[in-house]
Amino acid sequence: MALTVPVITIDGPAASGKGTIAERVARELGFHYLDSGALYRLTAVAALRAKADFNDPAALEAVALGLAPEFRDSRVWLAGEDVSAAIRTEEAGVAASRVAAVPGVRKALFDLQRNAARAPGLVADGRDMGTVVFPEAPLKVFMTASAAVRAERRALQLEARGEKADREALRRDLEERDRRDRERATAPLVAAADARELDTSEMPIDEVVKKVLEWWRLAS
Ligand code: C5P
Repeated sequence: MALTVPVITIDGPAASGKGTIAERVARELGFHYLDSGALYRLTAVAALRAKADFNDPAALEAVALGLAPEFRDSRVWLAGEDVSAAIRTEEAGVAASRVAAVPGVRKALFDLQRNAARAPGLVADGRDMGTVVFPEAPLKVFMTASAAVRAERRALQLEARGEKADREALRRDLEERDRRDRERATAPLVAAADARELDTSEMPIDEVVKKVLEWWRLAS
């Protein structure tokens, strides 16, 4: 599968800062941005709404196949309901990691993700962007940060939205989600062999963006 437009992939564990960085890099380059995690979160929320059995892979696959999200005005809608806030909760993140372990769900979402590669280019963030969805990408980044830093970043995000944050609980949830993402048989969370790894625990956002743009200049 040859790519017709440039793609940068940014993978890594939950709350490692991938989303913020990927969005900023996309803006700097004038590229599109794919938040692949949102598709798994949407599948999870749709499955919860449909009261699907989370232990039944065929039921979850059917939900993913029927997924028809509408993206309007920076919000996302499912069957006429604005689910922008619902997909961002920690519960939706944990439920997303359960549906994401189902091979049929991943297959159902594959084309949606590939189709996001449109001119002039794409920055894609997720877990398997560099290993499975865009293995031909000329720049792959694998972003990490310590569990404590990631829990703190997620807590600050929640607090910025006016929500309460229990840092210990957040850290436990993130670690549970990462374990499930790393240990699953299909498309586990792992750095591609040719990915550049970046530990952002001690790095300010501007510096991380600069680093990725510098790598892009070298790779493109
Ligand atoms: O990135 P985000 O935290 O929104 O992702 C939610 C969940 O979706 C992850 O924990 C992971 O299980 C799943 N996911 C995935 N593959 C991707 C993106 C997200 O399995 N490319």
